[in-house]
Amino acid sequence: MWGSRRRRIVAGLTGCALLLAPLAWMWQASLVPRSYSVAEMGTPDLGGGAAHAHPDHRVAVPDLTEPGDGTPDVRVRLIARSDTIRLDSGQEMHGLTLNGTSPGPVIRAEVGQLVEVELFNESVTDGTTLHWHGVEVPNAMDGVAGVTQDAVPVGSTFTYRFRPPRAGTYWYHSHQVSHEQVPRGLIGALVVEPRGGLDSETTDLVALVHSYGGTRTVNGATGEIPVDATPGDRVRVRVINTGNGPISAWVSGTPFRLAAIDASDVHRPETVTDRHVQVTAGGRADLELVVPASGARVELSGPSLVLGPDSPAERRPEARLDPLTYGEPAPLGFDPERPDRRFDYAIGRRPAFVRGRPGLWWSINGHLYPDVPMFMVAEKDVVRVSITSRSDVHPMHLHGHRMVVLSRDGQPATGSPWWVDSLNVAPGETYEVAFVADNPGAWMFHCHHLGHAAEGLVAHLMYHGVAVPYRIGDGNVPE
Ligand code: C2O
Ligand code: CU
Repeated sequence: MWGSRRRRIVAGLTGCALLLAPLAWMWQASLVPRSYSVAEMGTPDLGGGAAHAHPDHRVAVPDLTEPGDGTPDVRVRLIARSDTIRLDSGQEMHGLTLNGTSPGPVIRAEVGQLVEVELFNESVTDGTTLHWHGVEVPNAMDGVAGVTQDAVPVGSTFTYRFRPPRAGTYWYHSHQVSHEQVPRGLIGALVVEPRGGLDSETTDLVALVHSYGGTRTVNGATGEIPVDATPGDRVRVRVINTGNGPISAWVSGTPFRLAAIDASDVHRPETVTDRHVQVTAGGRADLELVVPASGARVELSGPSLVLGPDSPAERRPEARLDPLTYGEPAPLGFDPERPDRRFDYAIGRRPAFVRGRPGLWWSINGHLYPDVPMFMVAEKDVVRVSITSRSDVHPMHLHGHRMVVLSRDGQPATGSPWWVDSLNVAPGETYEVAFVADNPGAWMFHCHHLGHAAEGLVAHLMYHGVAVPYRIGDGNVPE
């Protein structure tokens, strides 16, 4: 009897071991080293292109800077601090500020001007960086901890220098522990004006939408915010969504035009009424309107800007303005029908281990972080990417480039070229996008729901011949 009991126990243990062994193996396989280079991460995906382009042409990320020293046209010093943020509602939170405020100062520059931003970390204990979201900066200025620089520790300074090549609405934010530092306030707006400045006929407003501890604000203010505008004024409102999910923006009291998406002008945008605009997480939408005698409002899914006399708020229009068919076609400047590389970026979700932790994790083409595809390109390649979500809403953001939307779920884009750097991909949707690889470096291509990114929804666009000397881990935590 004792013997058979022992046999049963042994059999039970063997059964457990048979079950546990693969689990232990999966756990073990999911562990990441204490520090690693993104260049060694995952599996290279050549997208049907050459394995090596210009092997003689090697360059390291830190050398991909703005050439020449020149005197800056715009010079800003930003001091990052652990600080108390007080909202006008009386609410207080322990957050992070730049020069004592959140959002930080609006930075304005003209196309081609040399912008120099000195970031001093006074008291952000995890270290910090600044990423210029949407700007085609040289790679070494991209501000991603562990990919394009080391996080700036307390007491240190990092200087960013770049010449923004295109006018439009951008923003900047920390790319070190970004899923915490962005919501906690290390953010600000960057407006790049055309050469010679804005046309003086238009009132130019920034509307940076950010939630502090669950309270949605515009430029740090809550509720209904009166702005200085009089009937007859033409106004451009630059809506910036710094959150993790899409927001709706619409105009009460008058028709409007969607003048730009993600810093690219819409070609011949028509005037619309009864439409709302979806602003992707990380994305921007510039709304243009003329203030009527009775006043107008720009509604931002909670707070609103009141232009002219106080006019009644209107409910969100049911119909959404669809950029796929909005505006008129214009040349792209390249032929997306003859790509050099084609990639898939299919986002699923499955139970597994990531970094030794069990959970339901995001997958990219079936693979889990850090074993995700590394999208390899060579300079001048025309690149096509098919992005699919088979899981949640994913606002997909590519650093250093702008992509043009070719189709959604097989329906071709027939309006203005729809250029994006942040694209809202809803569950079940497939977008075909294309871009020209014209900015060598190592570039993040990730979900801008920063919580998802921290859970491993991160891949990279990597140019052949680029060496990455920085390492993830050891103080660098980009997500
Ligand atoms: Cu707005 Cu990778 O960032
Ligand atoms: Cu996501």
